Amino acid sequence: MAKAFENMRVVSGSGILEVVPLLKDYKDIFVVADAAVQAQIAPLLEAIKPKASLTLRGGEAVKSLSTVEDIAGWLMASGAGRDAFMLIVGGGTISDVSAFAASIYKRGIKFGIVPTTLLAQVDAAIGGKNAVDFDGVKNVLGTFCPPEFTFICPTFLETLPRKEFLCGATELLKTLIISGQGYDDAVAHLKAGVCPLGLITDAARFKAALVEQDPYDNGARRALNLGHTYGHAIEAVSGLSHGEAVAIGIIMAAQLAEKLGKAEKGFAAMLEADFAAIGLPTKCPVEVGQLEEFVRQDKKAAGGVVRFILPVGIGQIEEYDLRIAKK
Ligand SMILES: NC(=O)c1ccc[n+]([C@@H]2O[C@H](COP(=O)([O-])OP(=O)(O)OC[C@H]3O[C@@H](n4cnc5c(N)ncnc54)[C@H](O)[C@@H]3O)[C@@H](O)[C@H]2O)c1
Repeated sequence: MAKAFENMRVVSGSGILEVVPLLKDYKDIFVVADAAVQAQIAPLLEAIKPKASLTLRGGEAVKSLSTVEDIAGWLMASGAGRDAFMLIVGGGTISDVSAFAASIYKRGIKFGIVPTTLLAQVDAAIGGKNAVDFDGVKNVLGTFCPPEFTFICPTFLETLPRKEFLCGATELLKTLIISGQGYDDAVAHLKAGVCPLGLITDAARFKAALVEQDPYDNGARRALNLGHTYGHAIEAVSGLSHGEAVAIGIIMAAQLAEKLGKAEKGFAAMLEADFAAIGLPTKCPVEVGQLEEFVRQDKKAAGGVVRFILPVGIGQIEEYDLRIAKK
């Protein structure tokens, strides 16, 4: 099974029509797109003349079994066979649900993703994890099934709301802190509210390489949890967005690394100054004690021990098992 994850294909181009050559081997193309980018993809639809297209409204609510049923019903009604190809154009919510539907439709049809948010470009559209939320729990039903390609096109970012841009900025910074490549460059650009394509593709390819090493998320890929242990807890108790919460989570993890003597003094303050200059929140809005219950329940916690990914420096992380006392 892991073979399917070899050579994850991350391709980029300056315009949406550059995706056309990637589709040359597929006869019956079915497009699922985010309503937010409908106007931007009109020339693409004109060029590829898909067999059918479906528009969905992006946002967490779309990641449901009922959307999977809608997609399956639409594919069947449009005559999609086992050789159908699904082209998915949208943010992480649209790619998660559509790729999940593609991975189970007739036991799996091929798909490619054109991510349209910064978060999806550096994270959600890379790695072959597809899922929907169920019974109030995020990503509880899903598959591991990689796309044939991820095509990154920077023009989509021109219409992305700033809040969404900042969510992606956090995941980009997280990846570059882990990789050690391009962090300062990214901070300089993100401060100006822009993100060059080269930085996006570097981060996406770094993630793709981790995924190739660890397709089923049992080892190397864990590094990508940097900032997410505290981040998930902050998101749950504060109502901050995922990206905002993870930004604070990264800084808290750096503070913990300093406290443990693993990172140099001043490292957390440096990250904090950079994140603040970009416009990301940096201070935990609740008492740290309030986060502990959530941290204890973190899916990575076992027997009261929580495995943290500690940023020890730019390009240096360490795994650390923190014991959290029961109340
Ligand atoms: N599969 C994975 O490995 C993985 C990794 C990280 C996150 N995720 C998932 O990704 C999801 C979040 O993705 P997201 O941050 O892209 O959110 P999203 O898909 O909800 O998109 C955010 C908003 O931006 C709109 N939008 C999308 N592209 C736009 C554009 N170019 N211009 C203007 N508006 C646009 C969407 O309609 C939506 O309203 C979460 O559900 C998360 O669980 C998955």
